[in-house]
Amino acid sequence: MQSFLRWVGLVILETFRLNILLTGGLGYVGSHVAVVLTEAGHQVTILDNLSNCKHAVLDRLTKILGKEPTFIKGDVRETSLVESILKTHSIDSVVHFAGLKSVGESVLDPMLYYNNNLIGAISVLKAMQLCRVKKFVFSSSATVYGSPQYLPIDEMHPLNPESPYGKTKLQIELILRDLVASDSGWKVVALRYFNPVGAHDSGLIGEEPNGTPNNLMPYISQVAIGALKRLKIFGSDYETLDGTGIRDYIHVMDLAEGHQAALEYLSEPSEPLSIINLGTGYGCSVLDLLKLYEIASSRRIPFEVTERRPGDIASCYANADKAFKRMGWKSKRSLKNMCEDSWKWQMSQALKK
Ligand code: NAD
Ligand code: UFG
Repeated sequence: MQSFLRWVGLVILETFRLNILLTGGLGYVGSHVAVVLTEAGHQVTILDNLSNCKHAVLDRLTKILGKEPTFIKGDVRETSLVESILKTHSIDSVVHFAGLKSVGESVLDPMLYYNNNLIGAISVLKAMQLCRVKKFVFSSSATVYGSPQYLPIDEMHPLNPESPYGKTKLQIELILRDLVASDSGWKVVALRYFNPVGAHDSGLIGEEPNGTPNNLMPYISQVAIGALKRLKIFGSDYETLDGTGIRDYIHVMDLAEGHQAALEYLSEPSEPLSIINLGTGYGCSVLDLLKLYEIASSRRIPFEVTERRPGDIASCYANADKAFKRMGWKSKRSLKNMCEDSWKWQMSQALKK
């Protein structure tokens, strides 16, 4: 009887097991998604050119998962390489993370962004078309909304990205719209992330910004560890409760589970293209995040208030209802969890040095 049940279990597992290609899968978000999908019984293959991550992430994933994920070093713009990976690994779904993501850098060097992000996405889609692989999850961003006209931001909010980076995200979404209209076989989910923060609770993987961080939580964590002197708070005269900027911070593991939900949603009868916010639905100010991080790290975090950062907005947070209605997903982890896991990751990084 027991062996029969084990056999039934194996059949069920095989039926629901997906072979998933993660482009950019050694990066911050992709590595956490690799953990969640592998632990859910799916088979992941990672393609990354290592332009913004370290090869060591693969060893850390192996430690977490107890087995090494399949990894290919290469560039998504090499269409024949993507094609051969899709065939060799019998891929049925692709999650496309690979891309550059710095707003400031994209303003200074827009061609770098149009080349990498746009040509990269077109190349992956072309290879998928050639191999008749038609399930695609795309890492989009809340930056496509531009300055909010109302809050919380739902998916119907007007689109007005302000940087070349944001424009590449919107242009890829438009390409996806045309693609699904041209061929009813495609099933696509574009996930618009709000502000991913935190790390896997093992402390083995997390965000590793190059040089001085631009984003708030990595900056706070480096002040807490003593690598940076003090946090500069960009403006305390916004129209918010404490005058500092408000954002929708989402734990990267919640975000990762959102990808699992999206892939499973693609296997059900669903609309050809779904555009879905991944956020918590709650805003948190810079000062509130700072205080929570002080508690999580048991350290005082020095700060000074400086000028507003050009291009920043007062408040931005998601209406996350669609993700729940369509995919049954909502965020579970608190700001306290985000700060604690970020601190654990920061401490483990410091120990390595
Ligand atoms: P990341 O830089 O940590 O990961 C991206 C990975 O893609 C890196 O490992 C990099 O080496 C790889 N890569 C880049 N160009 C490539 C190419 N041409 N070929 C192969 N590999 C390539 O970034 P992340 O934070 O993990 O973000 C993942 C995706 O999510 C990106 O598309 C980003 O724009 C989007 N996103 C991120 C955030 C955020 O705050 N982290 C917010 C919204 C959207
Ligand atoms: N901030 C500071 N000091 C810092 C860094 C940030 O006060 O050193 C403040 C900002 O002014 C803002 C808040 O902290 O009020 C959050 O700033 P982040 O840079 O962490 O995040 P943003 O919302 O500005 O932008 C991020 C990504 C974008 C993405 C956007 C929406 O950097 O790529 O979230 O997903 F488009």
